[in-house]
Amino acid sequence: MYSGKLITFEGLDGCGKSTQLEKTKDWLNNQGYTVLKTREPGGTVIGQQIRSILLNLEHEELQAESELLLYLADRIQHLQESILPAKSAGKIVLCDRFHDSTVAYQGYGRGLNLSSIESIVSHCIKPYAPDLTILLTISPETIASRLDRRQKQAEKDRLDLESHSFFARVAQGFQELAAAEPERFVCLNGEQEIEVIQNEIIDALQQRLQIC
Ligand SMILES: Nc1ncnc2c1ncn2[C@@H]1O[C@H](COP(=O)(O)OP(=O)(O)OP(=O)(O)O)[C@@H](O)[C@H]1O
Ligand SMILES: [Mg+2]
Repeated sequence: MYSGKLITFEGLDGCGKSTQLEKTKDWLNNQGYTVLKTREPGGTVIGQQIRSILLNLEHEELQAESELLLYLADRIQHLQESILPAKSAGKIVLCDRFHDSTVAYQGYGRGLNLSSIESIVSHCIKPYAPDLTILLTISPETIASRLDRRQKQAEKDRLDLESHSFFARVAQGFQELAAAEPERFVCLNGEQEIEVIQNEIIDALQQRLQIC
């Protein structure tokens, strides 16, 4: 019997996750698969409320540990309410960011010690690790130019205002995560043409997950 899959899209702000996820969804639909497109944070009703706290420019008082726990709370809801039921129903779940972003942004980027949450993570999140993770890499310089093109301030969120060195640390974090689990990660150069990247993603789905 066919079982569902969880495929996550990871990488720095503006690396092309949403662009590639949308194209992957269209390709899978054309191949006859049923797809659930979702995102982190915010895949559930509770998650939408958490997202509005996390991305609000006025929330300068948000503590780093509070931010971390909000992301985890959202993820647990998201897994239990939508991702796992969809996988059980045989769907392919495409998720825009997942736990790797927490480790890269909060751990490597902000320098938080994630050992305090290890127990929650190993019980509630790690057992449901993605079947495949697409990591798109771009340089911090490319981030700056892509984000500058988002003209309206309202379109920028709190993370867009982070520094160049922060993004360099996050990028290093993603690289180390990918190196530690090469069987789960597919690392692609996000500076290539959109269609070239899309073809590489389709190749990965065919070869790693036998989706065709
Ligand atoms: N391969 C590419 N080459 C050039 N521009 C691209 C490429 N992929 C995406 N873009 C453009 O870069 C911008 C950011 O892309 P997108 O929104 O897909 O990134 P993202 O990773 O989802 O960003 P965020 O983390 O902020 O959600 C968009 O304007 C998009 O059209
Ligand atoms: Mg996006």
